[in-house]
Amino acid sequence: MCPALVPVMKTVHVLNGPNLNLLGTREPATYGTATLADIETRLKARCDKESLTLVFRQSNHEGDLVSWLQEAGKLSEPVILNAGAYTHTSIALHDAIRGAGTKVIEVHLSNVHAREDFRHQSMISAVAAGVILGFGALSYDLALDALIAQSKSKS
Ligand code: DQA
Repeated sequence: MCPALVPVMKTVHVLNGPNLNLLGTREPATYGTATLADIETRLKARCDKESLTLVFRQSNHEGDLVSWLQEAGKLSEPVILNAGAYTHTSIALHDAIRGAGTKVIEVHLSNVHAREDFRHQSMISAVAAGVILGFGALSYDLALDALIAQSKSKS
């Protein structure tokens, strides 16, 4: 796309899948002690500094994630997605990302490749713009940094 036509990033969607509402108490040895609210607060502070709107959501239901991806896609707004266990199973999310046609960064708190075999496959990675995993809650910050850096380099 001609640089003049690249839309300026104004909003970032952060979508969280099943069981991520339990962060802070869920398997802290694997996922750390930060809650989802802690992560949201940190990302919101960074977005405020960059004059970006943050849409931060969590659902235990696959269809909600599909609908929110479609919503972001219609607005051509980028998405940071931790799909939780749906990462490893969901063709619906794979299709939603393809169909949305917007930039999606896949994130995980844990290094899924160092865990059980069933976590080594992602239905999302092949259609994501990038993947960040294994840095605990910092994975989200790194994904936001990447979106901001890319958006600045294009404008
Ligand atoms: C996770 C990794 C998934 O395998 C797991 O099902 C999750 C969390 C992560 O952030 O490390 O729920 O996405």
